Amino acid sequence: MKVKVKNNIYWVGKVDWELEMFHGNEYSTHKGSTYNSYLIKEDKVALIDTVWKPFDKEFVANLEKEIDLDKIDFIIANHAEIDHSGALPALMEKIPNTPIYCTANAVKSLKGHYHKDWNFQVVKTGDKISLGSKELIFIEAPMLHWPDSMFVYLTGDNVLFSNDAFGQHYASEFLFNDLVDQAELYAEAIKYYANILTPFSPLVKRKIEEFVSLNLPLDIIATSHGVIWRDNPIQIVEKYLEWAENYQENQITLVYDTMWEGTRRMAEAIGKGIRMADPSVNVKLYNAAKTDKNDIMTEVFKSKAILVGSPTINKGFLSVIAAFFEEARGLGFKNKKAAAFGAYGWSGESIKQIGDELKRAGFNVVNDGLKALWNPDEQAITECENFGKEFVNQIK
Ligand code: FEO
Repeated sequence: MKVKVKNNIYWVGKVDWELEMFHGNEYSTHKGSTYNSYLIKEDKVALIDTVWKPFDKEFVANLEKEIDLDKIDFIIANHAEIDHSGALPALMEKIPNTPIYCTANAVKSLKGHYHKDWNFQVVKTGDKISLGSKELIFIEAPMLHWPDSMFVYLTGDNVLFSNDAFGQHYASEFLFNDLVDQAELYAEAIKYYANILTPFSPLVKRKIEEFVSLNLPLDIIATSHGVIWRDNPIQIVEKYLEWAENYQENQITLVYDTMWEGTRRMAEAIGKGIRMADPSVNVKLYNAAKTDKNDIMTEVFKSKAILVGSPTINKGFLSVIAAFFEEARGLGFKNKKAAAFGAYGWSGESIKQIGDELKRAGFNVVNDGLKALWNPDEQAITECENFGKEFVNQIK
């Protein structure tokens, strides 16, 4: 299937409705995804990115229906990750000498993945190739989100091919931002930012400022995942600038695991206390053992503060909470307050340990946490409510 994006630009990618997990098991894709590849048929022909390996033969077969592969003058590899470069081996078998334009780091990655000495043409920011009356301008984008990442801009049509940036894991046959459910689109866009781009927020801001300083008109942002931003594409750029600035909403999220409901009851009472002190706060509770971890990280990303709870087991906390910290530490959230809580029976080490882990993950811990012995009685529940109320004051 091909879809016209604008003038002589065609989408020739793959909509993957079945995808449930991405990056191995690291990213849940409840709405599937797309691997967007673009064919530009000007006097010269350029192909921008390919698709994930399982679809390589389908991709090449479809491409052959659109164009004699020998007529492709340039292949642009904006990013070497397998979801975009995975069909290169199958394609290069057919057209082994076609030049692949990419960054120096992408050459290393592509050679590392495929062990082929293809006709690599290394480009840097500002380098151009002519397609006839239009040009492709390369813009390196290291660590957005890999060292090899790159954008390419097509003059005349004013299209920025941004690869992963501004993308969403969101399968849709509509393929354009104005044709899809906006709430779904933004839910996937913020999840993508929270789980993939959070660690690189300072670079996001700088790269956007750099692009703006080039004064290039922008009609379309053609990403490599999800829908193409053709209706007011600047909206997602503005969102990225917002998200890159230690984003938070008026939300407090409680993340916990529980053995015999004591820690869950504490979470509910603390949440109630927070709402009593400040009814405007959006309080959300997630049992980490029952909730998708990427969805939890998205909620943490949106929060101004979090509380993490676990009962004590074997002088520590439950393993699901350990996994939460592993993920959160990697994402490196900034400017978020936090506290620990949990039920215990005889020792109660988990609370201090959770506080320490919160600090290690970069959260600003505002108190020593709250313990409740065995299953909280009425008095302990009241203490949880009071703890929630105090927490609201402590994070002001
Ligand atoms: Fe969509 Fe970084 O690959």
